[in-house]
Amino acid sequence: MNRTSPSSQGSSSSAAAGPGRGMGSVPAWRHRDLLSLADLSAADMNRIFDLAKHYLPLVTSRGERSSHLAGCSVVSLFFEDSTRTRLSFARAAQLLSADVFELTGKGSSTSKGETIFDTAMNVEAMGIDALVVRHNMSGATKLIADHVSCSVVNAGDGRHEHPTQGLLDIFTIRQHFGPDLAGKHIVIVGDIVNSRVARSNIYGLTTLGANVTVVGPPTLVPADLECLGVTVSHDLDSIVSEVDAIMMLRVQFERLAGQAFPSAPEYRRRFALTRERAHRMPDHAVVMHPGPMNRGLEIDSEVASHTRSVILRQVTHGVAIRMAVLRLLVQANERGMA
Ligand code: CP
Repeated sequence: MNRTSPSSQGSSSSAAAGPGRGMGSVPAWRHRDLLSLADLSAADMNRIFDLAKHYLPLVTSRGERSSHLAGCSVVSLFFEDSTRTRLSFARAAQLLSADVFELTGKGSSTSKGETIFDTAMNVEAMGIDALVVRHNMSGATKLIADHVSCSVVNAGDGRHEHPTQGLLDIFTIRQHFGPDLAGKHIVIVGDIVNSRVARSNIYGLTTLGANVTVVGPPTLVPADLECLGVTVSHDLDSIVSEVDAIMMLRVQFERLAGQAFPSAPEYRRRFALTRERAHRMPDHAVVMHPGPMNRGLEIDSEVASHTRSVILRQVTHGVAIRMAVLRLLVQANERGMA
């Protein structure tokens, strides 16, 4: 750590503006890690959104890259399966010209009894700048962050948080409606109690002034969630016509969510975004889902691919958000500001 390669200081800062150049010099960022959106202020999030907007053209360009993290190394430690998050971080790091390495739980020495913090410390000892960690244990990323001095990004820890998913979801809403989220009605539907995505979105959206309603069966949406500053509802039909954005969550069978309602048809009848319910949404409203989807359970295929769906746009935005997060964390840590 604490390398000071010229390239990692934003080597093209003197170059003309453009997503692959420019913005080489940015005001101080003081977070070493990103473990929870509860740790970020509105100003912090807006800083990430501004940088992500700057990087977004690189995500869809073919071949152009930024040199902002050239000479840096990013390691993904994924102890739980992933498609979007894992590839998105790898793509983000590559677009910043960082070297990217991946280690999954399967095939690592954790199978021989090594602790995750020993694994993380050994990886760090190889001279890396950031660890991107997913684990099925809530708090695993904090445990690792307490044992290393490189930056740690929480890529989903158990039922706790998935902060870059929250950021990319909010970025998608902002890109659609504009940056002022005050008063926007965002409805999150489904397995809230098991959802790290819901928790990160709730922290982020309420900090930015949005009105958040969480909807689902009482077993998955307990009334005491109101302490997080959201409205709790068990009646999707009564609010579907009042949403600006509706975020459908996957029923997480691996976390036993299937035991929280009588049957899949009953869940679908009351809480799915069916074609009929989607017709009752306001014309301007958008449909979101973090993926992976249970098509036909929480969302109809026709709704997922409808023009009002921004589900694949969320994935594209995820790369830009992760570029912004990696860049801010790694540079703050290198400069000793975090
Ligand atoms: N949204 C999300 O975290 O998807 P993956 O599990 O595929 O990474």
